[in-house]
Amino acid sequence: MSKNIVVAIDGYSSCGKSTLAKALAKKLHFIYVDSGAMYRAVTLYFLRNNVDQSDISQVAEALKNIHLNFHSRDYETHITLNDEEVSEEIRQMPVSDNVSAVSAIHDVRVEMVKQQQRMGKSKNIVMDGRDIGTAVFPHADVKIFMTADPKVRAERRYKEMIGKNPDITLEEVFKNIANRDYQDTTRKESPLVRADDAIILDNTDLTPQQQLDFALDRIHPLITNI
Ligand code: DC
Repeated sequence: MSKNIVVAIDGYSSCGKSTLAKALAKKLHFIYVDSGAMYRAVTLYFLRNNVDQSDISQVAEALKNIHLNFHSRDYETHITLNDEEVSEEIRQMPVSDNVSAVSAIHDVRVEMVKQQQRMGKSKNIVMDGRDIGTAVFPHADVKIFMTADPKVRAERRYKEMIGKNPDITLEEVFKNIANRDYQDTTRKESPLVRADDAIILDNTDLTPQQQLDFALDRIHPLITNI
């Protein structure tokens, strides 16, 4: 059997990485892994258990007690934290407001990266995140770096959230995105940065179908043999 294919998608918050990653995985019959959901679930555990992020031993103890699992149904992300389905709760504002700080912790990253690398060892996979093409899979077969105008990103995320959270404001969403961009690009541990060999995809004016076609054009030559 030929080698497994790894597609790495990185980029800023709310710029449609998961929409593209899911569509690709579906089209190619690859496994989709939303690495951000893992950092979000860890953050939820930290919040619920009042883990002091500055205390290395508390962080280490917490990481030992966190067991994450993905259950794929229709390529939607279903993640469990110690056997509890938390897919909805990890998208709420308390987690969104704290996840960049938690994901900047060295020991958290080491543990998550280890688990992510295991998932991409022998299977065809599409993984999205911030450091997939740089730290998790530096030798990924295809790397895409996504970006879009921050205002457009905030509007898209706001539309997604307003149904479930009618109190949310566009300004709040915009601020959260701007903050996360800042923290994710300036942190010491594996900051969000484009890998030298990543293809840039600015989707400000693209439809989901156009993005999918763009990515498929790059991936198809690699997979004609599988
Ligand atoms: O993809 P997302 O917005 O759900 O990710 C939530 C946060 O997790 C993001 O602000 C930064 C962090 N993250 C990370 O540091 N590394 C990844 N590979 C994925 C996400």
